[in-house]
Amino acid sequence: MRYIKDYTSSLEGKCVLVRIDVNEPVDERGYPQDTFRIKKSLETINFLREAGAKIILIAHLGDPQKDGREGLSLEPISKVLGQVGAFEIKFISENIDDIHPNVIKNMLNSEVVLLENLRFDSREEENSQEFAKILEQFADLYVSDAFSVMHRKHSSVVAITEILPSFGGLVLEQELDALNYILNNPNKPAVAIIGGAKISTKLPVIKALESIFDNILVGGKIANEYIDEYGVAQNEKIILPIDFIDKERYDIGPKTRELFASYISQASTVIWNGPMGWFEQNPYDEGTEFIAKAIAENEASYSVIGGGETIDEVHNLHQESKIDFISTGGGAMLEYIATKGQLPGIKALASNNLDI
Ligand code: 3PG
Repeated sequence: MRYIKDYTSSLEGKCVLVRIDVNEPVDERGYPQDTFRIKKSLETINFLREAGAKIILIAHLGDPQKDGREGLSLEPISKVLGQVGAFEIKFISENIDDIHPNVIKNMLNSEVVLLENLRFDSREEENSQEFAKILEQFADLYVSDAFSVMHRKHSSVVAITEILPSFGGLVLEQELDALNYILNNPNKPAVAIIGGAKISTKLPVIKALESIFDNILVGGKIANEYIDEYGVAQNEKIILPIDFIDKERYDIGPKTRELFASYISQASTVIWNGPMGWFEQNPYDEGTEFIAKAIAENEASYSVIGGGETIDEVHNLHQESKIDFISTGGGAMLEYIATKGQLPGIKALASNNLDI
């Protein structure tokens, strides 16, 4: 994999297409309620601004093909990105097909533009070559910095790498370093904690994690699904809740909290994604809080967490400094480990050696 940080020629005046992930929860006006991913994306953007590149940011928000476009424009995100980065950012609202390439070519060095939500165009999720070709005409090279979409075989993640010289961004490099450390030689015992929803992404991953982790603690909606599908019988590795706070199973119960904490306190490596219950609704956030504290208390372990709600919980408890690495990826982080690094976006990037 080539990283933009190590690129030795001048980037001054080069048009650089940068895939970032700013897929944050948004309010009814489309403004982000969290800025973790937005702030992380600044590392590569600022690197490129300092190098004098013309920066064309591309990203997605939500699932407009399913939910419609309302509230999913990237315009509010562009305002917030400009505010937190303290630089001017121009939002280009036109459909990708309607943007004249000169709009980009005439940009000043170090200028930043953000294109509209890529998923407004159905070709993005189809990994369409035609869509990638439109993006390609704006740029001299492509930088992939959206680790959290590396598990998606989409145009701006995969097809684009077949036609533009491609490099990993600064955040992507940090992500892979942290996760490869877990993949290659995790200190034992290694414990994975999986919760939340996104069942179609996570359920297949749980089994795959068995070859790397000594124990997988499963909570949240995914535990309910797992129990409904496979029953409550515990196996040596996959540890399911033994009690819940109520009959609806909205949160893990006190015995489960203690059981999970006993594994976490013994662990030398811990990875966590997903809340343990209906985290948005008090008091069903208490199981999640208990687990976050247990991880933070085991300061001797190497700990990695990822996913919006998981990060929120640790942030609310002011425990970030006790976590070794906070990943921008939720589903992508788990799939990266489960597939031993073989995510579509990573494979595509690693096989690109086109010259600029
Ligand atoms: C995420 O939020 O995990 C990434 O942005 C990917 O989003 P997706 O699950 O909608 O593809």
